[in-house]
Amino acid sequence: MKQSLSPTRDEVDHAIRQAAALIRRSNHVVALSGAGISAESGIPTYRGPEGVWTRQGEPTIDGWDLFNSDPELWWKLAIEQNDTELAHAINVASPNPGHFAMADLEQAGYLQHIITQNIDNLHHRAGSKRITEIHGNRSLVRCMNCGARDRLETLSLVRLPPLCPECGGIMKNDVVMFGEPIPDDALVTCYRQAAMADLFIVVGTSAVVYPAAEFPIMAKRRGAMLVEINPFETDLSEIADVVVRAKAGEAIPAIADILRR
Ligand code: OAD
Repeated sequence: MKQSLSPTRDEVDHAIRQAAALIRRSNHVVALSGAGISAESGIPTYRGPEGVWTRQGEPTIDGWDLFNSDPELWWKLAIEQNDTELAHAINVASPNPGHFAMADLEQAGYLQHIITQNIDNLHHRAGSKRITEIHGNRSLVRCMNCGARDRLETLSLVRLPPLCPECGGIMKNDVVMFGEPIPDDALVTCYRQAAMADLFIVVGTSAVVYPAAEFPIMAKRRGAMLVEINPFETDLSEIADVVVRAKAGEAIPAIADILRR
């Protein structure tokens, strides 16, 4: 992860006012959020000094291979290994002021869509409605045949693998695993939103995972403006029109406050 540029308070406040002004004059604002927005809810990020993968190593595609060859065993292991550090942090987390401020922006008509890479369900719990979870949602299961989703807690795990009540296909946790294709419905919505956006807000993501990182770049190429909210520099910082070097839980409520006036 690149180093913080340590901006002054005045510089951060100025960037927050610029971001609010851009949002006010835009017609279709789309946000791409990542693990950083949930860091203030106690969920570790993936990368960076404290990141789970920095400490534990990145997952391989073995899990996806196993699911395809032996879904019953995959489910047994998934049930047994349900108490990882990340799973525990997600289980006990609540939305923070950054999530709530994004829901406020949507409610006030300033934010048209959230594309989130997060699997923690916190945007939903904060009250946001128009969300695409491009990497899935940990509290859902998805049919690998017809794509239907259901809440994990409603699924019987007596017989493994669980089967889809709609079509009989094999169900899997909705989280997109390494090697697994992004579900078509999510991908189509993301490309559509990227094509419609005249402002992209990129918040709390290192923007290194594709295709998610591609959407703001696509929008920018078409002439959309780009706001980045991240305490650290990313690969997108260079092309951002406004960079707010602050935590999401500080910056987004401050932007929403300005827009309420
Ligand atoms: P990363 O861990 O790669 O990046 C987190 C970003 O959040 C970094 O740029 C941090 O500087 C920033 N950050 C940290 N604290 C913050 C705060 N309080 N406010 C704002 N920003 C903060 O996480 P992602 O970019 O989300 O996918 O990672 C993308 C994908 O990588 C994940 O969805 C995951 C992984 O592959 C899957 O597991 C499928």
